[in-house]
Amino acid sequence: MKVNGLHYHTIWVNENDSSVIEVIDQRRLPFVFETVQLKTETDAFEAIRNMTVRGAPLIGVTGAFGMYLALINYHETIPLQEYIQEKADYLKTARPTAVNLAILIDEMVDALRNYTDKESVIELALKMATEMKNREISWSEQIGEYGCELIEAISKKKNGEPVNILTHCNAGWLACIDWGTATAPIYKAFLKGIPIHVWVDETRPRNQGARLTAWELRQAGVPHTVIPDNTGGHLMQHGMVDICIVGSDRTTATGDVANKIGTYLKALAAEDNQVPFYVALPSSTFDFNLSDGINEIPIEQRDASEVNQMEGISPEGKIHTVRIMPEGSPVANYGFDVTPARLVTGLVTERGICEANRESISSLFQK
Ligand code: MRU
Repeated sequence: MKVNGLHYHTIWVNENDSSVIEVIDQRRLPFVFETVQLKTETDAFEAIRNMTVRGAPLIGVTGAFGMYLALINYHETIPLQEYIQEKADYLKTARPTAVNLAILIDEMVDALRNYTDKESVIELALKMATEMKNREISWSEQIGEYGCELIEAISKKKNGEPVNILTHCNAGWLACIDWGTATAPIYKAFLKGIPIHVWVDETRPRNQGARLTAWELRQAGVPHTVIPDNTGGHLMQHGMVDICIVGSDRTTATGDVANKIGTYLKALAAEDNQVPFYVALPSSTFDFNLSDGINEIPIEQRDASEVNQMEGISPEGKIHTVRIMPEGSPVANYGFDVTPARLVTGLVTERGICEANRESISSLFQK
């Protein structure tokens, strides 16, 4: 997608030095557009952990490039295969909920298993990380095509009146490599000239909706309105939301969906008001080993400072962090919640749209 008219991905290999990986620093948006260089696996780990990069597909691809950086820095002090496993285990702990991280790293470890020399594994790791990146782009685009059909159908029913889409957090191109998951259908519909309007949940505590989704949509010129997190139910009661589309960090084989905290409450409101509630996700976000999302998906708990402080920009352009609650009040900061499959109308994947149940999911993903 474009930033001030220039096409960007969220992660790329430095064009002058292939041992350097570049990423967009998402902690600074929407106030400052800056990129950061990753040179070691520790840089990749920290970028994931401190949310320089975030969003399930991007976390996974950053982990894959992290493996590549780890291999460049292999100094033969321990056997190669032992080293690969150690670095994979390390990188996989950067964040717990988005399953893409473990899936992509495990895929890479499997492929590297029979190699014994450093040069070959470096070459293969770079090739694989690049392929994984490109694969995510094409999956996102395909999700966009399928999801766009849903928006188009609503548009026809509304005789061309704008379709109101509610989304939560940032499941946009920033969370992926390009296009996004939840935003891919939005961008496709917009490019097709279908009149749309997006309700953007601010998404406390880190405000990925207000900060990142709103920024993305503004860059693309898509009509949108940012709403406080607790507004969605009211809008749905008054017929102001035609469809909800959210992303996912991990979806079970039975269709339970972990996504940014607050998603579940939107799904409940959608169910109560007969608003279709769709989840857009690539196959790299399915955890086919799990069948009970509420009890089996690990939910990240994050620092209290994300809740008791807020960052903003002054009219003079200075970025400030302020405390917004009494000093010393305890805070709970769960990063994700699980929406049970029964509240999900459908899953929009790169292979098509299916119902959120084991039979329907396995009919699309037999392998
Ligand atoms: O904590 P984050 O910002 O990494 O959480 C991101 C989300 O919850 C997204 O909605 C999710 O990763 C979907 S990815 C396209």
